[in-house]
Amino acid sequence: MDATAPTGTPFSTVIRVASHAQHTEAETSTFMSDLLGGRLGLDAYARYTEQLWFVYRALEVGAESLRDDPVAGPFIQPALMRTAELERDLGHLRGADWQSGLAPLPATAAYAARVMECARGWPAGYVAHHYTRYLGDLSGGQIIRDKAERAWGFARKGDGVRFYVFEQIPNPAAFKRRYRELLDAVNADDLEKQRIVDECRRAFEHNGAVFRELGALFPLSA
Ligand code: HEM
Repeated sequence: MDATAPTGTPFSTVIRVASHAQHTEAETSTFMSDLLGGRLGLDAYARYTEQLWFVYRALEVGAESLRDDPVAGPFIQPALMRTAELERDLGHLRGADWQSGLAPLPATAAYAARVMECARGWPAGYVAHHYTRYLGDLSGGQIIRDKAERAWGFARKGDGVRFYVFEQIPNPAAFKRRYRELLDAVNADDLEKQRIVDECRRAFEHNGAVFRELGALFPLSA
């Protein structure tokens, strides 16, 4: 499957290991470091949250038609859906008319377009995007929430950081274990699994591109 993975390695391990370096890159990107280091204002956090709204809308509008799909269907679960939470956060951050004049950054538009393309024509590719975002939100998202609450004074798990709060997932560790079991059992042959890994890398690249464009808008570290 993956050149670096011994035969028999669970797919959840293969995909995690394959994206590990890119994960470190995302985590330590200039924009993320400045944002979570408390060096950027609320506007930067709001701009970032706006970009997430475009990405999750693509993921979740796309999910509708995939519920019964044999490959992507098992991953689609109402407890994960984030669009309503993002809209509530944006109402808090930008006011009731948050949507007026809102446009994605070019990198965000490209990312959302790729998610939609997978949702429409390649369910296994959609799984790669689903994994990259939702498993990340259930993991590092909790660190981001904590830092955002401290940096900008949001109420704990309240408006502004609801995106990071999975009300219907009281035990994220157990949920992630179950999610990894779904990955291990994904309805795909080895070649298709390799393509999923490649698409996961592409998903990380899209995230990196969004961070770069946000970093150029809020160039503190420069
Ligand atoms: C400052 C930003 C970030 C921090 C602090 C962070 C932190 C973490 C932590 C602590 C974990 C848990 C690892 C484990 O359970 O062993 C994790 C997992 C994960 N993160 Fe992040 N992360 C960040 C950004 C991102 C970004 C931008 C993405 C991609 C969009 C991402 C995707 C993932 C994924 C997919 C996992 C699950 C790995 C697996 O167990 O398969 N993370 N992250």
